[in-house]
Amino acid sequence: MGRVNLLVFLALLSVSTATRTISKSSSLTRASSDFNHVCNAEKFASYGFEMSLYPFCNKSVPYNVRLRDLVDSMTVEEKTIPGATSFPTVILSAASFNESLWKSLGQAVSTEARAMYSLGMAGLTFWSPNINVVRDPRWGRALETPGEDLFVVGHYAVNYVTGLQEVEGHGNSRDLNSRPLKVPACCKHYAAYDVDNWLGVDRYIVSDRDSIEVLVHGHKWLGDSKEGWIWVVVITIYPNFTMPAVKMGKVRESDIDKASFYLHNVLMRLGFFDGSPAYAALGKDDVCTKQNIELAIDAARQGIHDNKNDNR
Ligand SMILES: *[C@@H]1O[C@H](CO)[C@@H](O)[C@H](O)[C@H]1NC(C)=O
Ligand SMILES: *[C@@H]1O[C@H](CO)[C@@H](O)[C@H](O)[C@H]1NC(C)=O
Ligand SMILES: *[C@@H]1O[C@H](CO)[C@@H](O)[C@H](O)[C@H]1NC(C)=O
Repeated sequence: MGRVNLLVFLALLSVSTATRTISKSSSLTRASSDFNHVCNAEKFASYGFEMSLYPFCNKSVPYNVRLRDLVDSMTVEEKTIPGATSFPTVILSAASFNESLWKSLGQAVSTEARAMYSLGMAGLTFWSPNINVVRDPRWGRALETPGEDLFVVGHYAVNYVTGLQEVEGHGNSRDLNSRPLKVPACCKHYAAYDVDNWLGVDRYIVSDRDSIEVLVHGHKWLGDSKEGWIWVVVITIYPNFTMPAVKMGKVRESDIDKASFYLHNVLMRLGFFDGSPAYAALGKDDVCTKQNIELAIDAARQGIHDNKNDNR
């Protein structure tokens, strides 16, 4: 057994899961739908490897022995798992007041995101940007927003989102719903007093991570009423409660259809169904590139420079 390019191999295993088809006909498809199970003999075999030759996959051996084997079989390059470029906090790059910089940041982030997706290390939807207008400096998340000025926040959002989403050559197509997407932006956080004006664009609204669960179980906002759960299913993903709610007439199937249409619309625009060869070709070499590190430094410099307000 020679040394194998382990990282690439592990990535391949993940990618095979990421690109799995809906078909359930082969047991391999079922097995490889498990993202978190690297030491799967069937998957090893499908790539021509014999899993028993890899002690790191032996469950009878202590973790430290398995880890020694794993680390020892990797080259230095393989051990340096790519990490995305770290850009300055948004409040800093917002202070550059430079719209093309904001767009460039979105483009760099979406390219790295697509590369990470190709490597099986990320999904395709990202919860960015945070465009809440800062009202109170005591809020702990002010630094990840463009600040307190509505005008700046709006312009930041337009440019950053364009950078994230725009597929080259399709920026001007008039029908927004038919535009392909590089990465779908998720402008957060929707608040009760936000004005609902989507200009005819099909979108979906998601709860903030586990907030619904926290609202119900943590804050006990809805008490223990079953009614509470009915509210929850309207906007969330608890399959246990969806069917009963439909049966009780609390949720209309047409509303579920609408939500399902919006979700799949985004997937289709992402090329999830048709493939995106140009993005699929992105990989490790497109993550944390020299060019993106320079962009990050530039973004930091531009923000700091403007804060000084020299002759401006
Ligand atoms: C796994 O490790 C145990 C304990 O060292 C050993 O007996 C067994 O042969 C190993 N299995 C494989 C497939 O190498
Ligand atoms: C804005 O940022 C870009 C980099 O994206 C830079 O090339 C340009 O010079 C900046 N514009 C100003 C006015 O500083
Ligand atoms: C959903 O139903 C399953 C099976 O009955 C149960 O194990 C699980 O705890 C339920 N989930 C919630 C959130 O109640």
